[in-house]
Amino acid sequence: MTVFRMFAVSPPGLEGFTLRELEELGAQGKAETGGVEFKGSLELLYRSNLMLRTANRVLVRVATFRATSFRELVERVKRYPWEIYISSKVPLRLRVTSKASRLYHTGAIAERVLEGMKERLGFAPSTTNSEDEGEAIIVRVVRDRFTISVNSSGAMLYKRGYKKLVGKAPLRETFAAAMLMASGWDRKTPLIDPFCGSGTICTEAALFCTCTPPGILRGFAFERWKIHDQNLWHRIKEEAKGRISPCTAPILGFDISEKALELAEKNAASAGVAQYISLKRESFPKTGLETAYIVTNPPYGLRVFVPDVEKIYRKLGEWIKRSFREATVCLLAPDKRLASATGIPLERLTSFSNGGIRVGLYVGKWVRE
Ligand SMILES: C[S@@+](CC[C@H](N)C(=O)[O-])C[C@H]1O[C@@H](n2cnc3c(N)ncnc32)[C@H](O)[C@@H]1O
Repeated sequence: MTVFRMFAVSPPGLEGFTLRELEELGAQGKAETGGVEFKGSLELLYRSNLMLRTANRVLVRVATFRATSFRELVERVKRYPWEIYISSKVPLRLRVTSKASRLYHTGAIAERVLEGMKERLGFAPSTTNSEDEGEAIIVRVVRDRFTISVNSSGAMLYKRGYKKLVGKAPLRETFAAAMLMASGWDRKTPLIDPFCGSGTICTEAALFCTCTPPGILRGFAFERWKIHDQNLWHRIKEEAKGRISPCTAPILGFDISEKALELAEKNAASAGVAQYISLKRESFPKTGLETAYIVTNPPYGLRVFVPDVEKIYRKLGEWIKRSFREATVCLLAPDKRLASATGIPLERLTSFSNGGIRVGLYVGKWVRE
């Protein structure tokens, strides 16, 4: 059985969540900046692509070696079984970075890597610069050590295949999934997003609650590989589909924008979970609920102008205190001042860059005395 050395690329700040997910899949991983290293079979490679909610890619580390001259680089590259991943039909997209190494000219490195591959394959692989096509090959050189990886996922995994339309300041699905994990949502208590926008948190919550594999609607680069095992892949997908169950908790989304709610409705429908999500055009409404998980991405006033953003966080806190006997709160805020404006004790678990803006992920609990 081939054992693949893999690396699940996570958005920086989410590595811990990806590690937890991999452990739930039965893998032993090691988190490092930018992702989690793990090893396993083709089955694990398929499962991780299909199931990981917080990672963006699963790379296969094909080659690791030391080279200090171009001749040595070509000699090394040609020893690896590139025929498994590369066919004459799919062009390659090489991304090269080099740090503190004898070979530093990234264009020349790419040329020699292609030369080594050509010697092994018996044909010259074609190349492309387009982000949307081709087999991505990632060449990393650090202190003369080369690591060459193949992207098994294809398009980034946050692209689940259901979001046809995005709002003004959308949240990536990977971040929404991490917020749900960070909140510790029990999938029984109602979940509310009072600033739901295009509904990413609500849709991800419904997918999570129903155990729907996040990748079930999309394709993956590994489906083009020579070693691709269609029977195994079919079985894994069917087993995962068999575990889908009805949603066990109410999911509520509110927003003041009619347009945002229309997008949320369409996205939830194309994800196949619209029946589990109630969307309403309201601001801080009465819900009649005693307990809830509030998981939300309020406006920060940076990408979209908001006159008094602190007031929004203050009103959010007042609404939570007024409405619920007990609430677990998980929100994003660009700084501690805004998180504190809610008046709810919140702890910053991690931070990440959402659409170019650094935000903290805050979690806390409100219990009425
Ligand atoms: C940062 S966006 C949320 C994006 C969302 N997470 C998504 O994935 O599309 C903030 C949302 O808050 C809404 N909003 C702003 N002020 C509001 C208020 N007072 N009550 C309810 N919604 C409000 C905006 O219309 C916007 O859709």
